[in-house]
Amino acid sequence: MRLTRRKFVLSALSAGALSALPALFSGCSVSSKAGTAIPAGTSGRQFGSSADIVFPQGFFWGAATASYQIEGSWNEDGKGESIWDRFAHTPGKIKNGDTGDVACDSYHRWREDIALMRAMNLNSYRFSISWPRIQPSGSGGVNPKGIDYYNRLVDGLLEAHIRPFVTLYHWDLPQALEDAGGWPNRDTAARFADYAQLVAQALGDRVSDWMLFNEPDAFLDLGYLEGTHAPGRKSLLDFLRATHIVNLAQGEGFRALKAARPKARVGGAFSMSSCEPAGHSEEDKLAAERAHAITNIWFLEPALRGRYPEALTFLPETAMGVKSGDMEKTRAPLDFIGINLYYRTIASAPAAMERAVHAQEWLFPVKMDPGHEGPMTDIGWEVWPKSLYDMVMRITRDYNRPVIEITESGCAYNDGPDRSGVIHDTRRVSYHHDYLAALAQAMAEGADVRGYHAWSLMDNFEWADGFSQRFGLAYVDYKTQKRIIKDSGRWYAGVAAESRVGPG
Ligand code: FCB
Repeated sequence: MRLTRRKFVLSALSAGALSALPALFSGCSVSSKAGTAIPAGTSGRQFGSSADIVFPQGFFWGAATASYQIEGSWNEDGKGESIWDRFAHTPGKIKNGDTGDVACDSYHRWREDIALMRAMNLNSYRFSISWPRIQPSGSGGVNPKGIDYYNRLVDGLLEAHIRPFVTLYHWDLPQALEDAGGWPNRDTAARFADYAQLVAQALGDRVSDWMLFNEPDAFLDLGYLEGTHAPGRKSLLDFLRATHIVNLAQGEGFRALKAARPKARVGGAFSMSSCEPAGHSEEDKLAAERAHAITNIWFLEPALRGRYPEALTFLPETAMGVKSGDMEKTRAPLDFIGINLYYRTIASAPAAMERAVHAQEWLFPVKMDPGHEGPMTDIGWEVWPKSLYDMVMRITRDYNRPVIEITESGCAYNDGPDRSGVIHDTRRVSYHHDYLAALAQAMAEGADVRGYHAWSLMDNFEWADGFSQRFGLAYVDYKTQKRIIKDSGRWYAGVAAESRVGPG
């Protein structure tokens, strides 16, 4: 079981992967830029739990899902194979041999899912489009049956007064594009831009709010470096190249979408985690800055400032395949920044021993560990609401008070129905209560946050963990596909109805 998803720098570099590429990495230097201080305080649960917290009128109360995790119907109505279909069908890749072939069967049960949202009083639904449903082999014209599914879904949401909040890429690349080289291949950026334009043309008369990518940092790390997610590659070079191509795709996709729909609001959903220094030493503080650059802004700085983060100057741009003129192309003045946040990261300088053995300090720029002081969820992630406060404040300060949406936050607790069929998931209520309290504090201090999307609307296929981890506000019985709103879903319905979070 994975602990957190973003430990790659230490694991990749300690495996000695970089030493295989001496020529590419020579001449790299380490920036010593000091960053914004993280507010002091160590308690994970310190935000106003004794009073009502009122959110602004018009705040978006939502839930999030992703195509591969809920739709099923993996080969229906002309859909092409995705890298997740291929990966999950490969024995040994997914816990218990689970696959997303059926998942929550949302491809057929989307009306029931909209009914769940209505019962929870949601006014925003973040879902993703399956690229191979639209372009079965990743290029060429639109598969009409694929786009029809999303037409029906969008119309159904609008009828229910729920904002369709659409992610273009939540990890299910058409397998044909992986066969042609995948994300390390420069052409994939152009393919993504074409796809973005096609979808914007088809749905953009009714959808106005879009995210280009979900968590580039996570899908590239796990899919190309660690190999635990699709497409299952373990190559430092592929990973580095892919990070640059996705940054290019972000810029190209942004422009393509805006060309089709100039008034669209276009952002991204980035995996973030506040990076705290493990101790008080200058080395640990520098490590925290590097961890922040790696974890939070590797895909934000190129979009907003046309450069890689200063604290990442140890990255080898030659190995990444950066060409002259590229950094202009990565620019995408995003209309909002989506934050997916679950936990925090503790950063420290590599031990002296590690440095001595490996001689070059840049081989070990930062060690990143998950926190362990707060309660742990069933998937092994620490509950730490302050991470959300810290991250929202940092993005607010560093990027001049941008519009922010919380595009995901949530927890895996595997509570099931009791004898009367009720799911008392009190720990999930506490989680969302405390993270919302932390968010409210950031908003009171000036952050411009427009919405909160619980991960997830319902239990679903949790990638390499299969169906073993339940994140939903609604329970799914995978044998019958029956959905049951959990206590947390009922609680969230009250929050959404009144735009108010009661005392914890
Ligand atoms: C996020 C992913 C989402 C889901 C949650 C638990 O990193 O974006 O698909 O797996 O984690």
